[in-house]
Amino acid sequence: INTAVFISGRGSNLKSLYNFSKKKISPIKIILVFSNNKNAAGLKYAKEKNLYSIYLRDKKIKILEIRLLKILNKKKIKLICLAGYMKILSYNFIKKFKGKIINIHPSLLPKYKGLNTHNRVLQNNEPFTGCTVHFVNNKLDSGKIILQKKIKVLRNDSIKKLSKRVLNEEHKIYPKAIIKLFS
Ligand code: GRF
Repeated sequence: INTAVFISGRGSNLKSLYNFSKKKISPIKIILVFSNNKNAAGLKYAKEKNLYSIYLRDKKIKILEIRLLKILNKKKIKLICLAGYMKILSYNFIKKFKGKIINIHPSLLPKYKGLNTHNRVLQNNEPFTGCTVHFVNNKLDSGKIILQKKIKVLRNDSIKKLSKRVLNEEHKIYPKAIIKLFS
């Protein structure tokens, strides 16, 4: 399955998806990496791995997406994995890739959509948090859930400690969700 990974920053999920894609069990092949941020560390990683990587910018989201769609079609992309991609995709774009865009989010959705999830989880003394792989629809972090992992919040957790533990699970759950999706 020809796959594109969209990133905006660090790219640790990109790394885990790349490692997964090299395994026999993987149904995906990463054909391209797109970033809306020129300085994304993930972009550097993609280049190191000789992945076809693109950075596009345009003030007008419509124009940017038209350029992006052209490339995705040319490369025959069948699955888009959002991995820390910080831009909202338009309704039109999502419609064109309906059921083929998935995302990873660092909370037990539908709880804690949006940003600063770990901070809010700690503030609210939640006993559990987690991470979720879900389909992307036109509402933020609201598409159908594919797979979730529940994680215990510890008494002495800080944002840093908690996010590290959640991220570790994200790296496991994203490949698992892809296997689930295509088996
Ligand atoms: C992850 O926590 C992911 O769940 C969220 O953004 C973060 C991206 O991290 N959507 P990375 O760039 O994959 O390291």
